[in-house]
Amino acid sequence: MLYTMKQLLEIANKENFAIPAPNIQNELTARAVIEAAEKMNSPLIIDIAFPIHPDIVFLGEMTRRLAEESPMPIAINLDHGGSRWADFDLCLKEVMPCIRAGFTSIMVDRSSLPYKENVSHVQMMTKIAHAMGISVEAELGHVGDGEKYDDKSDMVLTDPGEARSFIEETGVDCLAVSIGTAHGQYKGKPYLDFDRLEKIKTATDNFPLVLHGGSGTGEENLRKASRMGINKVNVGTDLFKASLNAVRTADLDGGKIYDIWQVINDSWRDELIRWIELLGCAGKAPEYLAADTVQKRRIHYMV
Ligand code: 13P
Repeated sequence: MLYTMKQLLEIANKENFAIPAPNIQNELTARAVIEAAEKMNSPLIIDIAFPIHPDIVFLGEMTRRLAEESPMPIAINLDHGGSRWADFDLCLKEVMPCIRAGFTSIMVDRSSLPYKENVSHVQMMTKIAHAMGISVEAELGHVGDGEKYDDKSDMVLTDPGEARSFIEETGVDCLAVSIGTAHGQYKGKPYLDFDRLEKIKTATDNFPLVLHGGSGTGEENLRKASRMGINKVNVGTDLFKASLNAVRTADLDGGKIYDIWQVINDSWRDELIRWIELLGCAGKAPEYLAADTVQKRRIHYMV
């Protein structure tokens, strides 16, 4: 059942847990993450990034159909929308097809640009997305690349005061913050600035917050972050690693070669189940699906 990300994060924020946002690549991984949510009776945010598929509209429409057929509350989010382009028009060109494909949320990632441009681009995009009835995530500060974690040359930590004004000026529904995580594999040991997280949560009056670069961050860090105000955690690399490991160790000789997709499906699903438990959202689906709220929460697209 489709929900916007705002709807999903509202309850997570009120009850102090986080929802995992696995990056999917294709039909197989879309089915695997929905299977994990169904097994755990959990809400789910499916993240789809632009460059991972030759036809994101096709992938979005297919994922939307699978999500609609599932009894779990699911949002479909464009991950890092427009981040490759400094130009606003190119960013818009990337985001609009996803809105048409039925994504229920978009991330407008202008975090590489100066504060003022980040604000003005996100503000314009939020106006469009909200008119279509979908949610917006943006990023302030910049979550860098794990490969550069030893010198942190591409990481900019989020300033709590700026976070407050950014939210007020742009009207976004949730904010990705930079508190020490990085995308991909860490070169070095991840250190999370929980003091900063606490200050951001307070300065923003308890606004829904997002953590990128979940993989390799460590269970203790993630458990703590999800109880301290992080409400969505993005995860990609750890899912790939689990499947790579499973394929490497599976007995796929001879006729068993046909089992390869099942091995990938099951390992992707089981790794996500670990994240659902870790972030505290196992068994939370019924709260979203309470009979009296279903009609109010269902989305009717204008596009
Ligand atoms: P990881 O691959 O490090 O989990 O990061 C995923 C992510 O943040 C996608 O936006």
